[in-house]
Amino acid sequence: MFKIIRKILFLFDAEKIHVLSLNMMSLLSASGLLELFIKKRINAPVTVMGIEFPNAVGLAAGLDKNARHIDALSQCGFGFIEVGTVTPLAQPGNEKPRLFRLPKDEAIINRMGFNNDGVEALIENVKRKRENCVLGINIGKNKDTPLENAVDDYLICMQQVYSFADYITINISSPNTPGLRELQHGDGLSALLEQLKIQQSALHKSTQRYVPLAVKIAPDLSIDEIEDIAQRLIAAKIDAVIATNTTNSRPLTLSHKNIAEETGGLSGKPVLGISNTVLKQLSRALNGKMPIIAVGGISSATDALDKIKAGASLVQIYTGFIYSGPKLIHDCALVIKNH
Ligand SMILES: Cc1cc2nc3c(=O)[nH]c(=O)nc-3n(C[C@H](O)[C@H](O)[C@H](O)COP(=O)(O)O)c2cc1C
Repeated sequence: MFKIIRKILFLFDAEKIHVLSLNMMSLLSASGLLELFIKKRINAPVTVMGIEFPNAVGLAAGLDKNARHIDALSQCGFGFIEVGTVTPLAQPGNEKPRLFRLPKDEAIINRMGFNNDGVEALIENVKRKRENCVLGINIGKNKDTPLENAVDDYLICMQQVYSFADYITINISSPNTPGLRELQHGDGLSALLEQLKIQQSALHKSTQRYVPLAVKIAPDLSIDEIEDIAQRLIAAKIDAVIATNTTNSRPLTLSHKNIAEETGGLSGKPVLGISNTVLKQLSRALNGKMPIIAVGGISSATDALDKIKAGASLVQIYTGFIYSGPKLIHDCALVIKNH
């Protein structure tokens, strides 16, 4: 049935349908009907970063940027939901069109540019959620904030979301905010992480609650860069790393040659190889000292299991969910449970 619905939805503009589908899902969820269409969440608890996750398959950031659809998405069977990326102030993001489907490749190219309603609006939405799900909140910087002041934006967001998140993701890897990925490198990265850890420690004391920090990295990194990042994350005592975001690269195998020329981050099936290469290199560099949440290109249960076998403790899905629907979550969680 999902295939038929998808065929119809894919006839229309990608971003409009994205918003419409999420609104429809939330309506079904609120009326209690969504559960009738979807299999029960796979129960396969796993503890990572000190948090118990009902299963190892999460929703990746970017689908629910303003945390408006947590209940509906959670009812789809995810073991955890990551909302955001949210920035201190609301911002419109890049000009439309900025979201492109590559159906033959089961891929997406996006240059959304952190369109979101700002951190205060996100918190109001989080307060309204009814589902008791594990919630990650992914934070970033406003486009207009100069890179040298980026840390201020992360600190503002962290301060605001701390009491509402089970974990917080520091997104320094979106390709669509100019300069953001530079934060992944060298002493600048260590300085950023140090500031974040100082604030985490202060918030831990004042709230009596430790909220782990995860750092999300890009797939477009050399092995030397991955090793350097890994050592800096360990030194800063970061709680987890999320690998990977979308890629700037364009595999030659892409069928939609004209769409492939669009600027933006590529996600979905064609990213699996490059994302897994980073995962394996990262796993070797971290040597078990930090859990990895693996994301990028999962379009089957085997893909998810391969990421676990390559060293991931949890996985996340975005584009595969758009192409395959909730069944993919169920299949991935089941195969990981039985592994
Ligand atoms: C339309 C779109 C928007 C995204 N927005 C964000 C975002 O705001 N923050 C973030 O950390 N990742 C974002 N991502 C990246 C995903 O979270 C994920 O890391 C990436 O798409 C690879 O996973 P996938 O192949 O399963 O989609 C976005 C991806 C897509 C397709």
